[in-house]
Amino acid sequence: MCSVVGYIGKNKSKAFVLEGLSRLEYRGYDSVGFACLSQENNTIVSAKAVGGLDNLTHMFTMAHIDGFLGIGHSRWATHGQPSESNAHPHFDCQKTVAIVHNGIIENYLSLKKDLELLGHVFYSDTDTEVIAHVFEALLVATSDMENKHKTLAQVVVSLVSRLTGAYAFMALVQGYPDTLILVRQRPPLCVGIGDNEMFVASDAFAFAGKTDKVFFLPEESFAFVKKNEIQLYDFAGNALPVHMQALDLSWQDSQKNEHEHFMLKEIYEQKAVIHKTIDSLQALHDTIWDYMGITAQQIRTLDHISFIGCGTSWHAARLAQFFFEQVCKMNSSVHLASEFRYMTFFPTQHKIHLAISQSGETADTLEALRVINAHTMPTVALTNVASSTIVREAGGFLLTQAGREIAVASTKAFSTQLAALYWLAHRIALEKGLIAQADMVQACADVIYAAQVLEASIEKYKHEISAYHARKYATYSKAIFLGRNSSYPFAMEAALKLKEIAYIFAQCYPAGELKHGPLALIDEHTPVFIFSHQDSLIYHKLLSNAQEVKARNGHVVAFVFEGQDEMCALADLYFVVPNVAPLLGQLAMTGLMQFFMYAIAKELGCPIDKPRNLAKSVTVE
Ligand code: M6R
Repeated sequence: MCSVVGYIGKNKSKAFVLEGLSRLEYRGYDSVGFACLSQENNTIVSAKAVGGLDNLTHMFTMAHIDGFLGIGHSRWATHGQPSESNAHPHFDCQKTVAIVHNGIIENYLSLKKDLELLGHVFYSDTDTEVIAHVFEALLVATSDMENKHKTLAQVVVSLVSRLTGAYAFMALVQGYPDTLILVRQRPPLCVGIGDNEMFVASDAFAFAGKTDKVFFLPEESFAFVKKNEIQLYDFAGNALPVHMQALDLSWQDSQKNEHEHFMLKEIYEQKAVIHKTIDSLQALHDTIWDYMGITAQQIRTLDHISFIGCGTSWHAARLAQFFFEQVCKMNSSVHLASEFRYMTFFPTQHKIHLAISQSGETADTLEALRVINAHTMPTVALTNVASSTIVREAGGFLLTQAGREIAVASTKAFSTQLAALYWLAHRIALEKGLIAQADMVQACADVIYAAQVLEASIEKYKHEISAYHARKYATYSKAIFLGRNSSYPFAMEAALKLKEIAYIFAQCYPAGELKHGPLALIDEHTPVFIFSHQDSLIYHKLLSNAQEVKARNGHVVAFVFEGQDEMCALADLYFVVPNVAPLLGQLAMTGLMQFFMYAIAKELGCPIDKPRNLAKSVTVE
């Protein structure tokens, strides 16, 4: 979602802030802005632009704006369209306060009304602007300027007591040229500690490589950051200790290299990162339960596992449900995080909740996790980012080793989640005595083989897809996706990819539902993508569904496994993937599916890595 970046210290701030924003731009990119305290007269100077960072850096006025204390923002619009006036930073009436903000101020309309009655004039449609005006009103009302910092802390306490929502923001105040003010209610904020300089951002990736020390603001806290000091307070104004952590993040591995898009690079990285994920999980041996915050005894008596996630992570969970039910003979359930908190929660014994999130920052998933944590039930996070909020908040965690995923469309995070969840299902089965050590070893080998098939299948078809098929399927304005059993959530993931990056309307159904209504949509203008299954019974049911489509003049694109010749004979276009272990068919098909959707989007000239209206990390509910 929105990114905030700030700097205070020995150097001018603009260069770092713009670099930090460019590193985080994939998280939100509809408008961008920068503000700093000018060296000449200590006033706040700023520049804003609609669109990406380039539009800002190319502005003539930007050349003249710089200072030792600066903040920047790239936006994913929530309140008000992408426009210069809605772009951050936002200011009070006198431009003595500048705010960059991530999240939502839910009571902004009532605050705005009250402030307008007091004479404040607003220029934007955003919720953020009210923060600047409330701040201004409180600063004006503060008369005790003798103990300036005590007063400022009191002002921030009053400010946060007036705001409701889930938010994090950073403020520059004209009267405090040596202080960057950070406020975190829910979305993350962190400080990279340098030598007489501090780097601040919503994501430590902004300053990776510049320092190896980081401080994550706790929830409901605020900080006054100076070039060589951090003063931390809770929302009641009590001073808190600052706990620094080591930062182990590299920026170098986040280049596109020879690939045209990050998405393509990430599709091709899958074989290697699946291998890495399995190796790192195997290396945990018996310490696995410590990482997960669970005892081996709890695992032995476990009889239910519940998954929570959003988007692609939810699809991975839907697929993993089959792993746990079939390998661990265990009941499992899968919840969309955005719905979970509105459901009735029944705390039950012998159950763990596993929250899946690539970024570890998705607000819906974190809120669902908090609901479960409040009932003191065991929670485990499966994430790709070791420094993420979900790792700090869950009872325990497991990591995928996908490496930084930059493209908004998730690819390698999905396949490593599948690999990790397949591994975990077997590890739990081993602990419960349901499988032998040799089966565990075989399970790892099966995943590695499926990853090889994943890559080989792209290689086999990439030229014909790029040369012919992508062009053809880019001409359709809608598509239907079908699957059964575990190929149904996989078909959902395929449809999501097509929607997200190619903007083609894609509707996914469990194939058995076709005859209950959606069959009415079948015509020659709507390709039907069918994802087969290795199980013979399921395959033959899917074959019947394909026949129903063909009988109505439909157009079938089939992704099948070796030996499924009847489906190939029926289909208008087909791709054949070698057989793998029974539960890993979808993992093996993942690369080919992703590559086909990528190629269609490329054919359409879409901005693949940063699709319109989206952001990589969804930090608002
Ligand atoms: O970081 P998370 O895994 O929690 O993200 C969840 C979804 O927002 C994410 O998977 C989204 O659906 C992707 N853009 C899909 O490609």
